[in-house]
Amino acid sequence: MKTQVAIIGGGPAGLLLSQLLDLHGIESVVLERRSRDYVLSRIRAGVLEQGTVDLLRAADVGARMDRQGEIHDGVEISWHDERLNIDIKSLTGRGVMVYGQTEVTQDLYAARDARGGTVLHEAEVTAIEGVEGDGVTVHFTHEGEAKTLTADFVAGCDGFHGPSRKAIPESHRQEFERAYPFGWLGLLSETPPAAPELIYAAHDRGFALCSMRSPTLSRYYVQVPLSEKLEDWPAERFWDELRTRIPADVAETLVTGEPLEMSIAPLRSFVSEPMRHGRLFLAGDSAHIVPPTGAKGLNLAASDVYYLHRAFDRFYNHGTSEGLDAYSETALSRVWKCERFSWWMTSMLHDFPETGAFERRMQRAEFEYLQMSETARKSFAENYVGLPY
Ligand code: FAD
Ligand code: DHB
Repeated sequence: MKTQVAIIGGGPAGLLLSQLLDLHGIESVVLERRSRDYVLSRIRAGVLEQGTVDLLRAADVGARMDRQGEIHDGVEISWHDERLNIDIKSLTGRGVMVYGQTEVTQDLYAARDARGGTVLHEAEVTAIEGVEGDGVTVHFTHEGEAKTLTADFVAGCDGFHGPSRKAIPESHRQEFERAYPFGWLGLLSETPPAAPELIYAAHDRGFALCSMRSPTLSRYYVQVPLSEKLEDWPAERFWDELRTRIPADVAETLVTGEPLEMSIAPLRSFVSEPMRHGRLFLAGDSAHIVPPTGAKGLNLAASDVYYLHRAFDRFYNHGTSEGLDAYSETALSRVWKCERFSWWMTSMLHDFPETGAFERRMQRAEFEYLQMSETARKSFAENYVGLPY
């Protein structure tokens, strides 16, 4: 099999890239290790920045999002029972869109199908060759057989555990990491959201988040130590813990129900530099991970894809490799600023094992600074709605 751009990974980054390339007349093949049902069963991100929304519209996959997604003009941060509403719309002129990653992925699959795009499922990439040469060969297994895909370039959109990043020799790669000693236990339930806006809640017992997918579907998280096991968290225990950590007036009216899904996600900050080596370009979680506190993971995958599809467009349609040459530096500049915001928001709101009296006062001071200063709220809002591309 032969194509122009071989795309490894059929998550949001890989699918969005293939759709945008197609709209610019560039061929690609997407190789995805899992089945389509498996990819669609993963409950992940829920908040889209304006830039992501605009990019999805430009990719012709915005129609259902515009009908069913909810635009939010504000977001709340709470400290025990104190609530602070940050009016992101009046501070920045922009809001965010609440629309789940599952829905985005479903819309992208539908669009690829409608345009006759090739997305191979249960196609596991085992090796990538020729990255430093004149063309690449991607080896993969599909339907029990070993197969190859040859291409001009390869886009590594295969997430944190995929093979693409590791195809860059260690001597050419530098990794920066901070692992956090806790995770988020998430619960999805068919119940009305606890409040109209998302609430990021700081509490001495640990962080909690009230989020939603629709007027009838809610998503909640509580910070848990990494040692926690899912089986030790029956729904009742989760609801009790959540009620303790969120403001009392919200807890009083919280509607609970049977969980549709529960899972634990570890928290990590990670960046691998550079994001390009020869004919290999990394995008999304394959190159960087943020802790989920700022809702940036999926949005960063989208901004990478924005830069990368434009670079391929300039190469194939305008005969210049300038965009490809600048890709790593351009993408990383935005990545690091989002890493900073996600790290900062995580630091402000979570209970760290090493949190002593001094650190707790620092966290409280951050909260009070946001309460008293419009400048601080504006800086928060500018980051939360998404830095410009
Ligand atoms: P992925 O979505 O990981 O897609 C990569 C794809 O590559 C996968 O489908 C994988 O199967 C495929 N792949 C891997 N190896 C191979 C191979 N060898 N061959 C072929 N295909 C391969 N972000 C938030 O903003 N909020 C959240 O609440 C949130 N929760 C998260 C929970 C979890 C458990 C995880 C892992 C991430 C979460 N994120 C969250 C982050 C967000 O979901 C990611 O940033 C986003 O999915 C990145 O998209 P991606 O396409 O780069 O990677
Ligand atoms: C959701 C996840 C996040 O990480 C976040 O910051 C906001 C919302 C969610 O799953 O709804």
